[in-house]
Amino acid sequence: MSRPVVASPPRVTIEALPRHVGAEVEVRGWLHQRRSSGRIHFLVVRDGTGFVQVVLSRADLDVETFTRADHLPQESSLIVRGVVRADARAPGGVEVAGRSLTVVHEAEPYPITPKAHGIEFLMDHRHLWLRSQRQHAIMRVRAEVLRAATGYLEAAGYLRTDAPILTPAAVEGTTTLFATPYFDLGEAYLTQSGQLYLEAAAMAFGRVYALGPTFRAERSKTRRHLTEFWMLEPEAAFADLEEIMALAEGLVCAVVAQVVEHRRAELLTLGRDLEALRRVQPPFPRLSYDEALARLAAAGKPVPWGEDLGGDEETVLAQQFDRPVFVHRYPARAKAFYMQPDPARPEVVLSMDLLAPEGYGEIIGGGQRIHDRDLLERRLEEHRLPRAAYAWYLDLRRYGSVPHAGFGLGVERTVAWICGLEHVREAIPFPRTITRLYP
Ligand code: 4AD
Ligand code: MG
Repeated sequence: MSRPVVASPPRVTIEALPRHVGAEVEVRGWLHQRRSSGRIHFLVVRDGTGFVQVVLSRADLDVETFTRADHLPQESSLIVRGVVRADARAPGGVEVAGRSLTVVHEAEPYPITPKAHGIEFLMDHRHLWLRSQRQHAIMRVRAEVLRAATGYLEAAGYLRTDAPILTPAAVEGTTTLFATPYFDLGEAYLTQSGQLYLEAAAMAFGRVYALGPTFRAERSKTRRHLTEFWMLEPEAAFADLEEIMALAEGLVCAVVAQVVEHRRAELLTLGRDLEALRRVQPPFPRLSYDEALARLAAAGKPVPWGEDLGGDEETVLAQQFDRPVFVHRYPARAKAFYMQPDPARPEVVLSMDLLAPEGYGEIIGGGQRIHDRDLLERRLEEHRLPRAAYAWYLDLRRYGSVPHAGFGLGVERTVAWICGLEHVREAIPFPRTITRLYP
């Protein structure tokens, strides 16, 4: 005896629904919102690719399912089958006329309700907060930023060569190191930047980049600081400050353009001003540190020569321009040990920071590295860094040393700027700050 074959409808992601108008489909996801007119229930379902309204009519469902649908708590997991209908008013242009509903798991009352919660409450529930439409938009922009940035570097001939996270030495000063006991070898430090290893890789492969987490035990409680953040770091052999600034400019323009093109809906969900992003075009203004100081003095924010620029100064400077601005040639004493001095003026180094507009501060730091062994040894001594830990790094200056340069782009600061976020903590799935290690 043969049974009639009932073909089950294809499982379709919400993002792909507009390509299935008129067809019956299956959607698997979670209940985001619900309302009812009595005879019709409207369920907004999300599946990680988007949100869609499912319309359930009493006429189409059995009584039990129809009644249950009106009592389902938010975040209950569901399988819906129904027909995709074009609806110009719906976000995404479609809705689903539900024919069957299977509840996979009925959620407990959901702690994050539509009423406003404080930021600490939301951060304590970050594992659930990620399900919101806003966080979905931010994470999709973050993924697009990384896709665009790595794609740009790959196309420019940079080879991905990631750096270790457990390291024996400091890159960016010894005051912000996280240390951990390391078997019989003493202490290991969580990396502050992959740069030193990238310099070795650049001497091996010419043009390289790394993308990974970096760590700073920084007591800074600002909207720009995390203790764990991601950095994208290109490094090029036979390159100088000018070339690496051109790379940074091209990279940032390409990333912003790709996000505006591919993640327009997400940026609109976030209320981002797209015009401000469309102005991110080359050339970016290039200010020397001295010019930056003159501008700051004129704006009533004098900085004594020799000091690094703080967040407030960066904001004042960046506000004078409608696109990112480079500040180059900082005083040697404000910067790290590896910075190449300017031959025309040895008290400044061939470094650059890129400041984002709208008060987002430094998104890129980098420059040209010392390629002379004697000079590098002197700098290690001046900075009281243990020579033994850097012996391999000095080797790079013994076997075919060449001028080289690179930079690090802070992923979360870049995402925060592009999304227009208050604070970098929303730009990473699970933020780590000096006061937060949970969840
Ligand atoms: O300017 P930084 O310290 O540069 C370096 O670490 C270089 N060794 C990188 C290189 O040349 N390969 O850091 C680079 C970027 C900053 O411009 C900023 O965007 C981000 O990393 N950053 C932070 N982001 C979030 N929280 C923090 N605590 C950060 N510290 C730096
Ligand atoms: Mg910096």
